[in-house]
Amino acid sequence: MENKTVVLDVNDLRVHYHTPSGDVRACNGVSFKMYRGELLGMVGESGCGKTTTAMALLRLIQTPGRIVHGSALLDNTDILSLSEKELKSIRWRKMALIPQGAMNSLNPLMRINEQIADAIITHEGRQDKEKLKERIISLLKSVGLPERAYSLYPHELSGGMKQRVCIAMAIALRPPFIVADEPTSALDVVVQRLIAQTLKEIKEKMGISMLIIGHDMGLMAQLVDRIAVMYAGNMVELAPVRSIFKEPLHPYTKLLIDSVPSIKEKKALKLNEGMTHDLRNPPPGCLFHNRCPNAKPECRVTVPKLREIKPGHFAACNSFGCEGGAK
Ligand SMILES: Nc1ncnc2c1ncn2[C@@H]1O[C@H](COP(=O)(O)OP(=O)(O)O)[C@@H](O)[C@H]1O
Ligand SMILES: [Mg+2]
Repeated sequence: MENKTVVLDVNDLRVHYHTPSGDVRACNGVSFKMYRGELLGMVGESGCGKTTTAMALLRLIQTPGRIVHGSALLDNTDILSLSEKELKSIRWRKMALIPQGAMNSLNPLMRINEQIADAIITHEGRQDKEKLKERIISLLKSVGLPERAYSLYPHELSGGMKQRVCIAMAIALRPPFIVADEPTSALDVVVQRLIAQTLKEIKEKMGISMLIIGHDMGLMAQLVDRIAVMYAGNMVELAPVRSIFKEPLHPYTKLLIDSVPSIKEKKALKLNEGMTHDLRNPPPGCLFHNRCPNAKPECRVTVPKLREIKPGHFAACNSFGCEGGAK
């Protein structure tokens, strides 16, 4: 990406969930940057820490979860060290969330315009009625909704339309950074593509940076600029979408890409299920070694760090030399 302006700079983020049998290290030292106007897709199997990582960046981790380490600079302010009061003033204005299952989070008793107005007024105060109406209608249009959605109730809208309302709310105050947690997963495939297209248009028009969590590699390929692959609380690969599909460097990414179904060839699923280790007791060495087809003896000892292997293409794997250290 040219003219890169860093919007978010995440450094060694660690989040633990306290349980009676030990701490679950759901996000275990994650570092990455996000640039202005980019869509970054975060993929990885269920339970690998995608939601935890994203929620920590918005400071929405709930007990028994706890951010135990790290920094996250958003426009040079460390979100992780802000007080609750300071956070209140930047939520929606500087960062917003389209939560998992967002469309079910709309208030069934409020018309669409009232819900969006609520979000705007809470953060900007009372406004001129006519201007607010114009602004809400223009927001609805920008996410592909018809003007009549303005006075409808959530139950009068389809799932895709409700999801669009949630997107409209997230962009209402034009925050530079948005997290969308599985924004399309509850929708049918055609609607998924349409919503993905809308997210892309918003990014292009408004220059918003979005961290989009998902597990559909095929959909991600068409939607995002870069992909971050998570495995067991770690980011194991981060690269522009073209590079990751053309030349995935981490063996886990290769398996993920090989698992994308193709209509042209029938292929056996290479990724075996349910073998991720217990996040409370990570084994020494590389966390992927017990599933890795290329594991070497050193992988049982050395923790690989995410390193830039080629310009802009990062991977955490010992096969590119061992600069990792036991953590
Ligand atoms: N409230 C909680 N208490 C204990 N463990 C949790 C809690 N929430 C999430 N976890 C654990 O943290 C890990 C990461 O979860 P999550 O971030 O939701 O993954 P993903 O979004 O990739 O599916 C999982 O192993 C999950 O079991
Ligand atoms: Mg999740």
